[in-house]
Amino acid sequence: MIIAIDGPAASGKGTLARRLADHFGLRHLDTGLTYRAVAASLLANGKPLGDEAVAIEVAHNLDLAQMDKSVLSAHEIGEAASRIAVLGGLREELVELQRRFAQTPPGAVLDGRDIGTVVCPDATVKLFVTASPEARAKRRTDEMLSKGQEAVYASVLEDLKRRDERDSQRTVAPMKQADDAVLLDTTEMDIETAFQAAVDIVSRAREIA
Ligand code: CDP
Repeated sequence: MIIAIDGPAASGKGTLARRLADHFGLRHLDTGLTYRAVAASLLANGKPLGDEAVAIEVAHNLDLAQMDKSVLSAHEIGEAASRIAVLGGLREELVELQRRFAQTPPGAVLDGRDIGTVVCPDATVKLFVTASPEARAKRRTDEMLSKGQEAVYASVLEDLKRRDERDSQRTVAPMKQADDAVLLDTTEMDIETAFQAAVDIVSRAREIA
């Protein structure tokens, strides 16, 4: 079974993906971390973000087990990740890695921007998780503050909108709801309600498959 979860920044897709993986006994990959890991390596080595040859090489040698979410979640790494995510050759390299992960038994939950459209077009079930920009900005601000980071709601909101724009307007694998994905709008839902809704959607899809 493969569960594909896509959606914009801070929509709650990561938490849902992790909890669905636990619930259904599947492995989980946050594909955003693969873009973040490559971006972090370029930044650490003083390489320009547009240097695709270096980015591809870093991606080729990427070890999924070594990705440290707490380090990679830094705000500037997310920003750099969305900049390098426009590079077509880099995406091909990362997509190959993500597909290998997805196809290893017993199956997996992958979350990102192009899972249902490009990485796993034949997934058992596809979810597109979204929420209003204001709800997402509030969640991201609270999350940063709870980690002791500085965060100002207005600038978090502006950053989110800019990143959504970049992710949905790029020519290669733009963020987009797949035709056969189920839309889950979590604006008015807490995480528990969203999780129950997602479990229902997956259970129904599994019965049909
Ligand atoms: O957690 P958050 O939504 O802030 O970001 P993320 O999921 O870690 O992704 C960071 C950036 O990587 C996104 O803004 C996208 O540009 C890019 N990305 C992508 O292009 N394709 C994916 N499958 C996952 C992430």
